[in-house]
Amino acid sequence: MTEERDHGQTPATQGSRIDAYVDRYAARAAGMVASEIRALFAVASRPEVVSLAGGMPYVTALPLDMVGELVSDLVTRRGPVALQYGSGQGDPHLREQICEVMRLEGIQAGANDVVVTVGSQQALDLLTRIFIDPGDVVLAEGPSYVGALGTFAAYQAKVVHVAMDDQGIVPESLAQTIYALETAGAPIKFLYTIPTFQNPAGVTLNHARRQQVLDICQRAGVLIIEDNPYGLLGFDGEPMRALRADNPDGVVYLGSFSKTLAPGFRVGWALAPHAIRDKLVLAMESAVLSHSSFTQLAVGQYLATQPWREQIKSFKELYRERRDALLDALEALMPPEVTWTRPAGGFFVWATLPEGLDSKAILPRAVAERVAFVPGTGFFSDGSGARHMRLSYCFPEPDRIREGVRRLAGVIEQEMQLRDTFGTGSVREHPGVDTPGPDLA
Ligand SMILES: Cc1ncc(COP(=O)(O)O)c(C=O)c1O
Repeated sequence: MTEERDHGQTPATQGSRIDAYVDRYAARAAGMVASEIRALFAVASRPEVVSLAGGMPYVTALPLDMVGELVSDLVTRRGPVALQYGSGQGDPHLREQICEVMRLEGIQAGANDVVVTVGSQQALDLLTRIFIDPGDVVLAEGPSYVGALGTFAAYQAKVVHVAMDDQGIVPESLAQTIYALETAGAPIKFLYTIPTFQNPAGVTLNHARRQQVLDICQRAGVLIIEDNPYGLLGFDGEPMRALRADNPDGVVYLGSFSKTLAPGFRVGWALAPHAIRDKLVLAMESAVLSHSSFTQLAVGQYLATQPWREQIKSFKELYRERRDALLDALEALMPPEVTWTRPAGGFFVWATLPEGLDSKAILPRAVAERVAFVPGTGFFSDGSGARHMRLSYCFPEPDRIREGVRRLAGVIEQEMQLRDTFGTGSVREHPGVDTPGPDLA
């Protein structure tokens, strides 16, 4: 082999020919695997496919001209600050504004306890980094947010799911799970929960259960991570009171401007008890030195000069109309054996297929019929969820949603016929976290 041909290839003899460094990765990288359904979603993003899969906010509804002016004005007037490094904790003025946003959910907090992060996803990463050693237990609803499960897997946490029904996490199940783990001597580092308009299930923890969950965790000394990106996107009445509002010392609250403004700014935050906040700031600095001053100031400027509450209201109206389109179409078109949740806000409906059907096995046929969804297995870390699928209504127009459901109902009916003819298909075990990618999170 000439030196030229050998260039960069020698390690291949020790590992796979595709990845020359396959045996050099840290053990934690084993938990980072691309979903085998990603390729399918590349096809699903073609315009002829109705995607009920993506979790992308409908940013087209923003007054984009105004955002453009605001950004341009920011560079012209405050360029030397906006284009400079910032502090690890985040822009102080934006942190004040974040406290004002959180007051809508009953949270009274000082800007000093807020850490601005690169979306709430980074807050999840930093929290996992500071709390988790390999093998530590994290409690999470079953199903739970795929991006969080991916982070937990990357840090080699052991996720134990807690049962959830249409009123949110089941307190009895939480108490039993904590008791069983304590008895087994397994250290629980935190409960990760999305109490309001949950991703993927669309359900909301009811008022009575909120207090029970707080009490159970407080008694057991379990920290709660409350992830709440959809809390202000409720379709009826006032926002729910956050868990954090009733226990400042026992809850780390995560918020985000991704759904109420735009995910492209990548501005989220963590509100944490002092000691945790200090660690978060250090972890933030070690990860990225500081968040982008530019996008933080842009969001700050937006909040200071634009009617952001009105914008949230118009997002809510838009998503309510799409939620109604999805629920009405499901009601009208799905076989009676299929069931689903009825979200009062947020982006997602969680559907349950009849016995013997496997949503992941159905996906290729659905994509061939020009409709896509996310199979339920991606939302569990233990291989369950095969009879479920997440349907999102945030992105397609109402007519497209109806057409998507019509196609999907046809596919499910065919699958049921196949099942009745050939018997129950085996629902495959699928251990591991199956991350389909950011646009589908
Ligand atoms: C429950 C939940 N948490 C966190 C995130 C991450 O959001 P971001 O990093 O854009 O703030 C998402 C995004 O879809 C989500 O659904």
